Amino acid sequence: RAVGRGSAHAKLILFGEHVVVYGKPAVALPLRAMRMRATAWREGTEPRFESDHYTGPLAAAPEIVEAPRTAIEETLKAIGGELEGLTVAVRGNIPLGRGLGSSAAAAGAIVDAVSRLHNVTLSGGEHFALVQLAEQVAHGKPSGLDALATTIPSPIRFQNASAVPVPVALDACFVIADTGVHGSTRQAVDDVRTSLERDHDATMTIIDTLGELSDLAITDLETNAPRSLGVRMSDAHELLSRLGVSHPALDDLVAAAVGAGAFGAKLTGGGLGGCIVAVVERGNAAAVAAALQGAGAIQTWSITSTGTPL
Ligand code: PMV
Repeated sequence: RAVGRGSAHAKLILFGEHVVVYGKPAVALPLRAMRMRATAWREGTEPRFESDHYTGPLAAAPEIVEAPRTAIEETLKAIGGELEGLTVAVRGNIPLGRGLGSSAAAAGAIVDAVSRLHNVTLSGGEHFALVQLAEQVAHGKPSGLDALATTIPSPIRFQNASAVPVPVALDACFVIADTGVHGSTRQAVDDVRTSLERDHDATMTIIDTLGELSDLAITDLETNAPRSLGVRMSDAHELLSRLGVSHPALDDLVAAAVGAGAFGAKLTGGGLGGCIVAVVERGNAAAVAAALQGAGAIQTWSITSTGTPL
């Protein structure tokens, strides 16, 4: 039987989450060891969906698989395929709702699996547009950073829907730690919009400063300045807290990382839960990861400065 397969990796937003929605630059890395894999095949007549969270008829899918369903339906529409008899299965090791881009990776994997089942090769632009449609269902008005970052092979600077590679020369590593708290990106993006409406000038000042930090951080990445990068990460965390997208569990992990010798740390992704990222001397990664686990992290990942596992 014919099977279409697709796979897409997670991403780490190093700087610029939230402000990228307002046209400011962001920096992201691929997390190549964390992926979503999708498989598509035809069986029976009823369209079905399989995942760790829901397995059953696509038509009865609960809200949690609304975005994957959009990815399936929009891909079929784009390539002229039939929904009847289609089963799509999605599995992966990216925790959901932790700011690591699980929804975009799932959508990217689905778009590839469904188009390949139909022997259609999509262009990069077509693929991006379909993942963006699913991301709109997942969280409203996405910047496009997540949709693009699931396909990048190396670090990027992203602004206004276009990306350029960042030549990272940083001789330090990143430790990511998961609070275990589910953070709603949609809620966080809405909260930032609300504070912008209520207190435009003060909120815009924070957004501008975070955008400037993204470009200063790129210089640190290119010139191997881990201490400076760490200070900027901790500054960014403080500003993101003032934007209202942190969470006590995130603040605790940031403090634990710095207490264990990290150069600096911040929340990553949508916030209100999810993960932090710390920049750490290579020799200190295991100690920082242990400290983060001691402070309540349910999982940690250590990666090189370009996103490969340590
Ligand atoms: O929480 P994540 O991994 O979906 O990251 C969202 C990034 C935001 O900047 C908060 C939203 C966006 O659309 O870019």
